[in-house]
Amino acid sequence: MAKDRHDNRDNHMNHKGKNPMKTKITIAIVTLALAAPAMAGNDDEIARRTQESRKVVKTFMGKLKGELQKAMKSGGPVKAIEVCRNKAPLIAGEMSQQTGWRVARTSLKYRNPNNAPDAWEQLVLKEFEARKAKGEDVRKLEHAEIVTVDGQKQFRYMKAIPTGKVCLTCHGEKLDPAVAQTLNQFYPHDKARGFRVGDIRGAFTITQPM
Ligand code: HEC
Repeated sequence: MAKDRHDNRDNHMNHKGKNPMKTKITIAIVTLALAAPAMAGNDDEIARRTQESRKVVKTFMGKLKGELQKAMKSGGPVKAIEVCRNKAPLIAGEMSQQTGWRVARTSLKYRNPNNAPDAWEQLVLKEFEARKAKGEDVRKLEHAEIVTVDGQKQFRYMKAIPTGKVCLTCHGEKLDPAVAQTLNQFYPHDKARGFRVGDIRGAFTITQPM
């Protein structure tokens, strides 16, 4: 009975004498034909924007590492906390201004609530964890995608940040009491502790308006 009704609908001719099912298929084929070159273009665009993002991440990372090393050497870890606190957002702001993109760092276990991931970033960070669990090299984890937000296209890029030995001073399992005390003072809701070498500490995140 149900099948009959289905067949009736498919074979029903509309008032212009066209089979609606056939029309639908034709539209689908035309749409596909139009979409194919556009999709190839998207791939090129993603590749180009990924290249640009990698460069900016490299510069950002270099500046952060430089500032951190300088501060650790000259003033020790407690003093270096202040540098991370002041310089990291400053450098991120400079990079954003220079590029016209949003350039930042984020993490599932963040220290500064300003660095909390949005919904998309959360998904990518979880995907990074899953890829790491499957044996991928953390240093090579990255994700690029064109997303649409409120009808507006954006290119988004993330690159994982591995935890190195030097990071453990402020993000490790056992912190020096003076370090812990200073961190408690600035970040009462700090989640960015308990990391081990090789863990994904977080990620660089870039949003390019299109
Ligand atoms: C001297 C202490 C110190 C060391 C060493 C340190 N960090 Fe941090 N880290 C901080 C502080 C403080 C913040 C919060 C910065 C802010 O307020 O934006 C932070 C924030 C971050 C963030 C941003 C996400 C979040 O948790 O808010 C990432 C990612 C990060 N650190 C990665 C690293 C990595 C990777 C290393 C090692 C290469 C490292 N850190 C070493 C103190 C440190």
